[in-house]
Amino acid sequence: MTNDNNTKSKGDRKNKQQTKEGMWAKTIGKQLGNPERSVLGWLVSKLLINHNQVLEESAVQLSGIHPGDTVLELGHGPGLGLQAAAKLLSSPLGHVIGVDYSEYMHQMAGERLKGLVSSGKVTLHLSDVAAMPITDNTVDKVFHCNCYYFWPNLRKATTEIHRVMKPGGLMVTTLRLSSLALASSRGILAAEKWNPHTYMSALTDAGFIDVTMDDQRSRNVHFQVIYATAAQE
Ligand SMILES: C[S@@+](CC[C@H](N)C(=O)[O-])C[C@H]1O[C@@H](n2cnc3c(N)ncnc32)[C@H](O)[C@@H]1O
Repeated sequence: MTNDNNTKSKGDRKNKQQTKEGMWAKTIGKQLGNPERSVLGWLVSKLLINHNQVLEESAVQLSGIHPGDTVLELGHGPGLGLQAAAKLLSSPLGHVIGVDYSEYMHQMAGERLKGLVSSGKVTLHLSDVAAMPITDNTVDKVFHCNCYYFWPNLRKATTEIHRVMKPGGLMVTTLRLSSLALASSRGILAAEKWNPHTYMSALTDAGFIDVTMDDQRSRNVHFQVIYATAAQE
């Protein structure tokens, strides 16, 4: 084989390898955004449980939940945050709602929270964040983790969240910018999708006020928190 041919086949192999890696990254990104009942979906659910517990529990803690609140988690995944929020609702009036459009995550969270769902303390909706079966002005606190980057239309979703929140209600978003930058560099997540400033602008456009971001640390995990308050009417 000539040197030219050798270089060409090395180049071909490299291109094939890159194409394969790109396809894997897209497949993983798709499962993170909408986990399906499959081996890969199951692996993604394990990753969510092991990697995101601190972010889920911190979002609950930072939401300042009162015992009689109605609390909504968006994109709850396996259900760790719903479980942590339900523990704080000691009054019979306290209620947790979960919204996720993955059938697999809806079922997994339903299994985890079986007792709370049958007692009526927790309600799970298999639904898109942009069209929730929830009455206007009924939710006191909203929280979500690792989620907004998968919403196809930020403006539509944030307007819908604002609709269901009581005026003055608080929404807390937790995210880890370092993990997002890594996922983005590997082609798992498009860079323009997770820019926190784009999300914060969409919140303001939808009518939220006091939209701010700060850094937090819990159990040696460094992460970011975005706060937003539903405007008074
Ligand atoms: C990366 S997972 C995060 C799960 C969990 N919050 C965590 O941090 O472990 C994103 C979740 O959001 C859900 N999701 C994404 N876009 C959604 C949408 N438009 N409406 C409802 N759920 C959505 C997915 O099905 C998935 O369960």
